[in-house]
Amino acid sequence: RILILDFGSQYTQLIARRVREAGVYCEIRPWDAEPARLREFAPRGVVLSGGPESVHFEDTPRVPDLVFELGVPVLGICYGMQAMAHQLGGTVEPSAQKEFGYAQVRARGHSRLLRDIEDHASPEGYGLLDVWMSHGDRVAALPPGFKVIASTGSAPIAGIGDDERGLYGVQFHPEVTHTRQGQRILERFVRGICGCAGDWTAGNIIEDLSARVREQVGDENVLLGLSGGVDSSVVAALLHRAIGEQLTCVFVDNGLLRLGEGDQVMATFARHMGVRVLRVDAEDRFLDRLAGVADPEQKRKIIGNTFIDVFDEEAGRLENVQWLAQGTIYPDVIESAGASTGKAHVIKSHHNVGGLPERMNLKLLEPLRELFKDEVRRIGLELGLPAEMVQRHPFPGPGLGVRILGEVRKAYTDPLRRADAIFIEELRRHDLYDRTSQAFAVFLPVKSVGVTGDGRRYEYVVALRAVETIDFMTARWAQLPYDFLDHVSRRIINEIDGISRVVYDISGKPPATIEWE
Ligand code: XMP
Repeated sequence: RILILDFGSQYTQLIARRVREAGVYCEIRPWDAEPARLREFAPRGVVLSGGPESVHFEDTPRVPDLVFELGVPVLGICYGMQAMAHQLGGTVEPSAQKEFGYAQVRARGHSRLLRDIEDHASPEGYGLLDVWMSHGDRVAALPPGFKVIASTGSAPIAGIGDDERGLYGVQFHPEVTHTRQGQRILERFVRGICGCAGDWTAGNIIEDLSARVREQVGDENVLLGLSGGVDSSVVAALLHRAIGEQLTCVFVDNGLLRLGEGDQVMATFARHMGVRVLRVDAEDRFLDRLAGVADPEQKRKIIGNTFIDVFDEEAGRLENVQWLAQGTIYPDVIESAGASTGKAHVIKSHHNVGGLPERMNLKLLEPLRELFKDEVRRIGLELGLPAEMVQRHPFPGPGLGVRILGEVRKAYTDPLRRADAIFIEELRRHDLYDRTSQAFAVFLPVKSVGVTGDGRRYEYVVALRAVETIDFMTARWAQLPYDFLDHVSRRIINEIDGISRVVYDISGKPPATIEWE
């Protein structure tokens, strides 16, 4: 396994994802982590991330001495390379020409890291690499033992290497896709140079996690709140594989789910896979508690609390449960541990039933806490979950509760659910679903005038929202074809009573959020 030391780069998580894509397990730790903990981790190699600082200033991050004492290969990226060069006896200086964005690097083929990796060959016989650069400082003099392995016009030392000790540094970012050979370079490092086997595959991950779960829970019983979302679905499938009958799932239908969702969950898990799922129909209870409440945050609280009450009651009826399983994944862990920088915490669904384990005296089981979303999806497929379920757009915990503006009523949830289903069905049919990151309908409880045949209609409005985003922190509205929108709008107005107008949301995030509430 590989250790990634984080110096505060926005790309640190990307490095980890690329290393895992190369089939090698890795973890991110902050650069100032306890050295004893790093030693315990016993990595086969270390990657030093980039970072926003400059080694010229005191009190900026340094590579812990331990990294060089482990005797394993090290790859420094950007700031990671500068810190390594600085600490091993080279010099780093502010660059007269700062470089940000695309650059072409001349790679010298004699280093193990870059040998035979190139985008183009240059007339002089160098390999040329198209890379993504971002730096203010540059390495001015090599540390003893190192050679130059890459250069650009403005940074004659854009890559350094010491094949003997297995120490390398690159000024560019191999982890971003703009660096076309980046994946090969990282793969060369972790597999070719560090000698990792590349056996971190979906099948092995499942075996590995199952064995750990079995060891952890022994013959005790596990309870899981199944929401139909990707993470809890994969946990259910995994635990079913690992411990079979010791797993019981509770699925709470809060009346705010997508069309047919409860039936789908029951079909997939209970009927098809043989998982024990208790379905609780709590629609009335949720809608009663929500009656008359218009404030979005208050609605969220009511939905979250009601969920916990219902779940708690169901769980109380089960005897002999010692564990509560949750679908926590690695980005949640990194973000709450502060190992990655700056990024605001992604809002977790209330299905991660906060506070319940203590109240019910349960131990917490989080089998996915070391996996990225794409790994969770891959093992989901491998475990036999349907692709539509595993590749599904995210759905907020409070569900349609935050997609009906103001007060939630049954008279609104029903038409909204149908409008949403038509939109999603058409997106899939037109091959647009996977090209949008999230798409849904919103119910606007205002009436507008319409006309059909000779009659005048005075009915509600539905807004359609579709966005493209990588991280859900910023998003662009999706430029869906007009013909497509026209078709969806006609279907919604014709097929659903009570709706006479459909509008399309053309607001980006920021300033608008993805959800309307
Ligand atoms: P916003 O609306 O903040 O949404 O741009 C960003 C992402 O988070 C989801 N979201 C929620 N998820 N509980 C959740 O589990 C919530 O209260 C909640 N609010 C927003 C939203 O669907 C989008 O994917």
